[in-house]
Amino acid sequence: MENMIEFKNLTKNYAKGKANAVDKLNMEVRRGEVFGFIGPNGAGKTTTIKMLMGILKPTEGDILIDGTSIITDPIAAKAKIGYVPDGHDLYERLTGIEYLNFLADIYHVSQDERKAHIEKYLKYFELEEAANSQIRSYSRGMKQKITVIGSLLHQPQLWVLDEPMVGLDPRASHLLKEEIHAHCQKGNTVFFSTHVLDVAEKMCDRIGIINKGKLIAEGTLDELRSGEKGASLEQLFLELTDDEGVETHA
Ligand SMILES: Nc1ncnc2c1ncn2[C@@H]1O[C@H](COP(=O)(O)OP(=O)(O)OP(=O)(O)O)[C@@H](O)[C@H]1O
Ligand SMILES: [Mg+2]
Repeated sequence: MENMIEFKNLTKNYAKGKANAVDKLNMEVRRGEVFGFIGPNGAGKTTTIKMLMGILKPTEGDILIDGTSIITDPIAAKAKIGYVPDGHDLYERLTGIEYLNFLADIYHVSQDERKAHIEKYLKYFELEEAANSQIRSYSRGMKQKITVIGSLLHQPQLWVLDEPMVGLDPRASHLLKEEIHAHCQKGNTVFFSTHVLDVAEKMCDRIGIINKGKLIAEGTLDELRSGEKGASLEQLFLELTDDEGVETHA
């Protein structure tokens, strides 16, 4: 199967009478690519990601992960994914190491493998010293780092990150970008949302833009430009999501 993710007519309505938060989304993420999911605040990115992760039930539609439906076969689908959520609902009383071992248990990572991965990533993200402290003592960026490490322990085929750069210092954010790149080089797929458009522009093979629950553009940066030579992703974003026609200061 060429596609790692297939969103099929995906729709979420949180409350009757309210507009759909995600509205008939059809989008494909190909195997081995870095796919950036961008859109204004409230556009439906997190809602889409939570449905992808099987946390929220779609009102309509389906999502296939490597051909497996998150609706009808959630355990098999989830085993293929590593997830970095947008908040940090962490187990605050666990130490970093306890938390990582807990996740390794859930994902059936062998003792040898987990030891190697935990050591490698704690060192890589410079979190070794904090590993034996309770997570509640961590700074925001440290919580983000431990979440990132936890999502990689089973070396997922699909790595999903919801605004992963938030709270990271420049060095950590650089390391994360390198790791995203490295993960794809191993043949895996990365799907992430972000508001940092120059990161999306530099890192993504393809980009999807969502506005008010609807996919309004999808493709490589060149495809999104469609004639507007040299336009930056920021320019394209501002034009495509400017549905009120409000003039922006030139
Ligand atoms: N639990 C919820 N109950 C009701 N409405 C919700 C809920 N979560 C999100 N929404 C609504 O769904 C829409 C999409 O929200 P979502 O969080 O998916 O946006 P987002 O693209 O992730 O935005 P941001 O860039 O601010 O993170 C918004 O109108 C939001 O108010
Ligand atoms: Mg969000």
